[in-house]
Amino acid sequence: MYLSNEQERMLSGEEGEAVRKAMELIVALGKIYEAERLIPVSSVQVSGVSYKTIGDAGLEFIEDYAEMMKKEGKKVRVKTTMNPAGMDIEKWQVMGVDREFAEKQMRIYKAYVSMGIEPSLTCTPYYFVNVPKFGEHLAWAESSAVSYANSVIGARTNREGGPSALASAITGLTAEYGLHLEENRKADVVVEVDFNPDSYLYAALGNHLGSLLSKMGKKVPYFRGIKPSEDDMKALGAAMAATGSIALYHVEGTTPEWKNAIDDDLEVIKVDELEIREHIKGMDRDCEPELIAIGCPHASERELRRIAEMVKGRRKREDKELWVSVSRAVAERNKDAVRVIEDFGGLVLRDTCMVVSPIEKRFRSTGVNSGKAAYYLPKESFCRQCVRFRPLEDLVRMVIA
Ligand code: F3S
Repeated sequence: MYLSNEQERMLSGEEGEAVRKAMELIVALGKIYEAERLIPVSSVQVSGVSYKTIGDAGLEFIEDYAEMMKKEGKKVRVKTTMNPAGMDIEKWQVMGVDREFAEKQMRIYKAYVSMGIEPSLTCTPYYFVNVPKFGEHLAWAESSAVSYANSVIGARTNREGGPSALASAITGLTAEYGLHLEENRKADVVVEVDFNPDSYLYAALGNHLGSLLSKMGKKVPYFRGIKPSEDDMKALGAAMAATGSIALYHVEGTTPEWKNAIDDDLEVIKVDELEIREHIKGMDRDCEPELIAIGCPHASERELRRIAEMVKGRRKREDKELWVSVSRAVAERNKDAVRVIEDFGGLVLRDTCMVVSPIEKRFRSTGVNSGKAAYYLPKESFCRQCVRFRPLEDLVRMVIA
């Protein structure tokens, strides 16, 4: 693999140990994937922020790295934003998070901030805080954001792991392979949808197709027959990325690269509504949710305002909680909607979500409209929830007295 003189210097340790270690990882990945060279990235999204998901080993690794960078006077080289943490860093007590968890979570957060990473704590950085442009190369690690950046925006990123994204933040580089290369962005299967899904069905469609396509060895689906909104694409892509390894999809007539995405004679699979309704039966369990949790990925302005509209002037049921997860940027820009939901008795959470916070310590059953959350929350997973999977409107109605 070709390395420039400057990259060779970085790899040899001339710029310090923090940069050397980061370069070593990027070069190793480049060799594994047979990249010809390294390329600059314009932004990074790091994952591995929640104490619930990374534990003490992750905390120690991040603190050690932050300490090394501090000693060497190094910061991240490109715009770098952070995935959600295990709690709202201001409202963690209201969420019922215990002090030990909160202290460890804050150590992770502070270590990242000391590296120069922006304290965004959201999986939807593309709304306001880290907005990529078409064709830009990125190193993002949040699977739902990777799908959105590639598919809806037309930026280019592989699905990075936590350490490789951090290494890209420190070096400003990534190896040029996978979805950075034009030829790997072509569709390898056509999915014909013969019904008109609403946003809830898009989440279910994604949950179903992610695992189905991965089993078929397909990586880049091309959808025909649908006209999704941006929220629908967010739900579809997040679910496909969670249940499978889909990091890019195209939608005929909608996404920015669809025109050059298919060649002739691609395999075609057809999906009808009955198949999706059948699939939903396995996602929607028969239980009364104690918690209604919306915002996976973090809610858009439109979703937040829709919830506010529904609960305005109403009273919340005492026996159920409502959590709406959003980015700080979306909450800031929609203070009126946040106030309405909080007056109702709901909790508008910044910085976190129902999956990466320790909800299992307080709740046994949760209602969601997210195909990704429905995959990560169930009893057999680390969230141990009985999951109701319902449309947003049904969920909000469940919590109104
Ligand atoms: Fe975001 Fe949490 Fe879902 S990080 S994509 S809201 S699992």
